Amino acid sequence: MANISPAWRYCFKQVRSFHCSSPQNAEARLKTFSIYRWNPDKPDEKPYMQDYSVDLSSCGPMVLDALIKIKNEIDPSLTFRRSCREGICGSCAMNIGGTNTLACISKIDSDVKSTSKIYPLPHMYIVKDLVPDMNNFYNQYKSIQPWLQRSDGKKVGTQQYLQSVDDRKKLDGLYECILCACCSTSCPSYWWNGDKYLGPAVLMQAYRWIIDSRDTQTKERLDKLRDPFSVYRCHTIMNCTRTCPKGLNPGKAIAEIKKLLGNVIQKDKPGLDTTALHN
Ligand code: SF4
Ligand code: SF4
Ligand code: FES
Repeated sequence: MANISPAWRYCFKQVRSFHCSSPQNAEARLKTFSIYRWNPDKPDEKPYMQDYSVDLSSCGPMVLDALIKIKNEIDPSLTFRRSCREGICGSCAMNIGGTNTLACISKIDSDVKSTSKIYPLPHMYIVKDLVPDMNNFYNQYKSIQPWLQRSDGKKVGTQQYLQSVDDRKKLDGLYECILCACCSTSCPSYWWNGDKYLGPAVLMQAYRWIIDSRDTQTKERLDKLRDPFSVYRCHTIMNCTRTCPKGLNPGKAIAEIKKLLGNVIQKDKPGLDTTALHN
């Protein structure tokens, strides 16, 4: 602070002392978090629930704040994924109070008498504590080839592909998916057939590319889904849509794929000549 005037230095000191002292002065509000634990280094030890007492008066408002506080101040061995802490990366997905959601945008229930129970995403293999193994999920995502594909042989990366405003709107509610897997891991069909059924998250992304007016591989994409398991294990239970922390509707996207597969509807022709700038 060599170049800062004494007045500013005093001001900084006041702010810092306010922030440091306020949690200590506040009355402690202890809440219990009961958290699923499993350590792969102790394979003979069964998974168990461990209770932690957290003072809410010195903790941020979200469940992820409590987890970070526990890890920093009580038990550094507690393991969970997180990155953005604002509902964008999808890595903090877990089951909180019986619902699959994102810990970073999930408010702590301020009732200190009730225990907050936290499990990993259900029916997944567990790497450690709250960290599920996402390999199958990501391989399924890879299998739908989630990128723009064209069969016209035009040189990619030289000109824009055009899309009308209305065609672009068809991607709304689909492209926002952060692949957190909250929906897929809430789906009973995915629990029982997760090796062969693609699940709501991956199917919604399959649909996102199927209906993109710029993509020409619609038939090939649909044909890849034409088997008894990939799509048709969805029984429209709609757990997926109910649980999505981003408010998306994967159940509807699956229903649209089924209609396309059954020739009940057809993909519209592009509203604009997609490659007009390439000519
Ligand atoms: S609607 Fe389909 S994908 Fe969604 S929870 Fe039900 S069975 Fe699973
Ligand atoms: S649809 Fe929603 S719940 Fe499913 S992966 Fe995407 S953001 Fe997560
Ligand atoms: S930390 Fe990124 S979504 Fe929660």
